Amino acid sequence: MFSRRSFLALGSLAAIDARPLAAAGTPPLTFGFITDVHHGTHGKDQRGRLTPFIDAAIARKADFIIQCGDFCCAKGGLEACADFLAEWNRFPGARHHVIGNHDCDFQGKDDLLKAWGIPHRHYSFDAGPLHFVVLDRNHYLDEAGAVVSYDKGNWYPIHRQGGPGHLARVSCIDREQLDWLARDLMATEKPVVIFQHQPSGVGTHDGNWRDLNRVIDSHNAKRGRVQVAAVLSGHDHDEQIAVRHGVHHLTLTSSTFGMPFGGNTTYYDPARPPFTFIHVDPSGRELVIEAAATTYEGQDAMKPELVWVDPPRLAARRIPLDGVASC
Ligand SMILES: [Fe+2]
Repeated sequence: MFSRRSFLALGSLAAIDARPLAAAGTPPLTFGFITDVHHGTHGKDQRGRLTPFIDAAIARKADFIIQCGDFCCAKGGLEACADFLAEWNRFPGARHHVIGNHDCDFQGKDDLLKAWGIPHRHYSFDAGPLHFVVLDRNHYLDEAGAVVSYDKGNWYPIHRQGGPGHLARVSCIDREQLDWLARDLMATEKPVVIFQHQPSGVGTHDGNWRDLNRVIDSHNAKRGRVQVAAVLSGHDHDEQIAVRHGVHHLTLTSSTFGMPFGGNTTYYDPARPPFTFIHVDPSGRELVIEAAATTYEGQDAMKPELVWVDPPRLAARRIPLDGVASC
């Protein structure tokens, strides 16, 4: 998302169930998370930014890696991104993908699924003690109110047109997917983490985000616990967190660039791209997001007003799993 940013919103942690601690030991699950790599946008080759992430994922023997959208803007076709995708595919374990709006600038979703090797535009999987869901928020509402899937930049006219209410017509989720999500959640008893590109509970609030949160919150209410513990997103290029009905909604920092006040795109040090590893605490009670930090490329020479008020960082956080809602 290029045009807006929101301030950090801090929420309180939810209380958690009193359950016996598992024996201390190695984390039962670790995964690598990176978002908004933006290969190909602004004419930039971001292949090198993947290298430290993939090296770390291999060294840590991560259970899987995931990119949370705006990964590969393939202006010249996905074949032109072969080297970039080969670097990603150097990780030998499971590799997951979330579709971002800019992934659909020059491609259809079927092209992305084929190039990325994922089964569907939205899907779910189990890993360790958790259930994970990947969502596709890339739809717009046409003039008649029909939901249309993003395809080769077909959503841009709405943005160009602008005007009141236009942001409610993009980043939408379709009814079929919401129904699927409700069924998918009912089919698991494990704590759930949802990945989507566009946020629904923090940061930008575009599209029918309330419809999605209604499914999540209704599910947790039925279960009487915060089974859907976290919703992790990208899109906003900064780090924000809010807790809504016990669910931790986060947007995590782009690995490539931020958008300081004034609208100037400002790149992060390519040798130190922000990404994080997330693990389940050995107790099984918490999801642990590890800290990361970087600097802007050429930060020493930047005008002070262009150095973003929030430093490019990912804060260490602990999110309760299967908690009882406290708010
Ligand atoms: Fe985006």
